[in-house]
Amino acid sequence: MLVEGRPHRTIWLKPGDPGCVQIIDQRALPHAFVVEDLRSLDDAIRAIRDMHVRGAPLIGATAAWGLYLAVIESEQGNNDIEHLKHEADRLKATRPTAVNLAWAISRVMSRLESADSSLAATARSEAEAIVEEDVEMCRMIGVHGLSLIEGIASRKPDKPVNILTHCNAGWLASVDWGTATSPIYHAHALGIPVHVWVDETRPRNQGASLTAWELGEQGIAHTVIVDNAGGHLMQKGEVDLVIVGSDRTTRNGDVANKIGTYLKALAAKDTGVPFYVALPSPTIDWEITDGCKQIPIEERAPEEVTHISGYLEQGEVAAVRLTPPSSRAANPAFDITQARLVTGLITERGLCDASESGLTGLFPEQARAVHSS
Ligand code: MRU
Repeated sequence: MLVEGRPHRTIWLKPGDPGCVQIIDQRALPHAFVVEDLRSLDDAIRAIRDMHVRGAPLIGATAAWGLYLAVIESEQGNNDIEHLKHEADRLKATRPTAVNLAWAISRVMSRLESADSSLAATARSEAEAIVEEDVEMCRMIGVHGLSLIEGIASRKPDKPVNILTHCNAGWLASVDWGTATSPIYHAHALGIPVHVWVDETRPRNQGASLTAWELGEQGIAHTVIVDNAGGHLMQKGEVDLVIVGSDRTTRNGDVANKIGTYLKALAAKDTGVPFYVALPSPTIDWEITDGCKQIPIEERAPEEVTHISGYLEQGEVAAVRLTPPSSRAANPAFDITQARLVTGLITERGLCDASESGLTGLFPEQARAVHSS
């Protein structure tokens, strides 16, 4: 998508330097646009763990490139597959909730284990394939999700379609297009008036800092709201549609997403607002059927709750404490929205119910592959 009017992606191999993967360091947004070089597996591990990159699809893509960097490093020393398996385990331990991480690692590792050409060439071609497929899946999520926005627009001519989203499930969370934002970008490109309510998404404020920034760069009307405003706006008829992303979706449609998503789904159910989840198929965990019991929820540092960082008028970014020094803080980073609260899923193959029959109807070969393995 666009940055200062020029098309951009979130991750790429540095032109002319095959030993360097480049990312946008998302910690600096929206105050600065910083490109960071990753030259080793440890760089990739740090980038995922410390959230220079984040968002389920982008975590997967970064892990794939991280294994490529591990192969290059090991070519200078320890180039055996057992060593790479150990490195893959270190990568997998960075963040627990988004299943795209394990999916991408296992995909690259199985290619490496059966490689008959150079390991570096194999890892590079698999990372490139994962990246290109992600772009296409996210584009197709937009093509399919567009019908929802078109339907609402046709019922309220000349008025904007008001869409609420939580966290950042935009292009910054994937390689391009985003998941929840892709239908919005497609609608905007067709001239359909859209307006996005952007939840700020405490504690890390991915909505206020990332979603607001990327929507602004595309010229899309949006308003940042505090996380607790969504229910009120739904009661007032100010929200036509909710679209969020997912970090892991069970076989039967339970959805893990950024903390606070569940409360939005409850409010949407109570007020009759359609609540959709946009996800590419690598976000589906075909092996589990109970999100609340089986999806690991990342617990992050309490300092993300006790402190907040922002931009000072003098041009510096500073962190300030919000809470009394003696107060403890808890920081669960994701929650589960059960399938019964989800109106539908938007995938690269189309829309479906949040149910096992809905998902297996769209992805029969993926559902079968897990059951038979
Ligand atoms: O902690 P984050 O910023 O990685 O969480 C991201 C989200 O919760 C997104 O909504 C999710 O990954 C979907 S991204 C298309």
